[in-house]
Amino acid sequence: MACTCVVGLQWGDEAKGKIVDLLSTEHQFVVRYNGGPNAGHTVVKNGKTYKLSLLPTGVLNPNLRAVIGNGLVINPVRFLEEVNTLRTAGVYIGDNLVLSDHAHLIFPYHVEEERLVELASEGAIGTTGRGIGPCYQDKVGRSNGIRVGELLYPDHFRHRLQAVVARKNLMLHALSADAKQFDANQLCDEYLGYAQQLRPHIADTTILLHRALDEGRGILFEAAQGSLLDIDHGTYPFVTSSNSSTTGIWSGSGVPARRLTRVIGVVKAYTTRVGKGPFPTELDDGPSGLGERIRQKGREFGTVTGRPRRCGWFDAVAVRHSARLGGVDELALMLLDVLSVVDEVKICTGYELEGKRIDYFPGDSFLLEKCKPTYETMSGWKNEDLTKARKLAELPAAARKYIDRLSAILGLPVTIVSVGPDREQTIMR
Ligand code: IMP
Repeated sequence: MACTCVVGLQWGDEAKGKIVDLLSTEHQFVVRYNGGPNAGHTVVKNGKTYKLSLLPTGVLNPNLRAVIGNGLVINPVRFLEEVNTLRTAGVYIGDNLVLSDHAHLIFPYHVEEERLVELASEGAIGTTGRGIGPCYQDKVGRSNGIRVGELLYPDHFRHRLQAVVARKNLMLHALSADAKQFDANQLCDEYLGYAQQLRPHIADTTILLHRALDEGRGILFEAAQGSLLDIDHGTYPFVTSSNSSTTGIWSGSGVPARRLTRVIGVVKAYTTRVGKGPFPTELDDGPSGLGERIRQKGREFGTVTGRPRRCGWFDAVAVRHSARLGGVDELALMLLDVLSVVDEVKICTGYELEGKRIDYFPGDSFLLEKCKPTYETMSGWKNEDLTKARKLAELPAAARKYIDRLSAILGLPVTIVSVGPDREQTIMR
């Protein structure tokens, strides 16, 4: 029985959706276990481009049951928008999409709270502005957290929301005299309206997944964001508010991590990051620099916010950290074709921190900020078209050497190489 996780090992946007799509025939369930409508998934399927932020990308596959686990934070508006967009595009959405009754609900006051805190604070995180952090704060704080299952009990829901909104209005006003204020009854009516549409999808997904395990069904876990944005193991505080590495699977779905049979770590052939925070290998070299060339060729603009992604060289120190943390068995190397725009390629194999060479990933952003990368430089494959290669032997020798070197440094096999967005533009080893 296959129980696979596809997880990003960098700062997100590693093109995990393509790998999920490739593996869909080997599994019957696809599960998201962390995050919310902050994820940016672009999948190209049968010539059509789909952009999803809350639903698992596996939902595009009719033979998979798509599960939104308890570890997520849900904005019902986004949920219904994505469902409607997919239906309009001819994708079947019915009982194949299941939403955990334990997942937490995002309300507009979460978005307002985040806006005010990001505006006011010197150390703004550069979030996606979708209310993710404040919603997780309420989950952990307990008094103000409201779960999806509560939507199904209108009197109880109204009672809870009235108490929570009263507290939230006070708090928001304390943050700013201009803060938006919310009407509990209006919000309640709005959300109870959504509840009618969500109802057919709501279930206890932990029970569902345990039954699936008992029946020997294949489960594919689809991580959102990247491991370096993990709340515990990433570049704190410039992280997201959930466990975006494989560590989130157990808590975010109820499936014990030891049931996993395969962990595929997905990496880009270079590195990108959206939002603030340390990025040692960043190519911050202006409008005609290498960073910009990679950004344009790789179309590196955020799916959720449209922000230009920061681009840089492959950071093997960072990836080694997230691969170890995630129990990764093998690597999928994505967007290799993009590096055809550079003369030579560099791999960061260590850092210099306060005059000393280190080969580990410092756990704190203020230390990582001080790290200077040390690089190995290799010949590139400038202007060569990789997008038609379907076998390793069809890649330029320099590109093959780059893959082998990454594999040797990280001590992991590279089993999948992607040379373009389409399903066919893939080399399976
Ligand atoms: P939040 O998740 O909206 O709180 O944002 C926290 C940080 O994570 C910001 O730097 C975001 O840009 C980043 N982030 C959140 N989701 C994604 C994603 O799916 N891809 C890349 N970065 C993300």
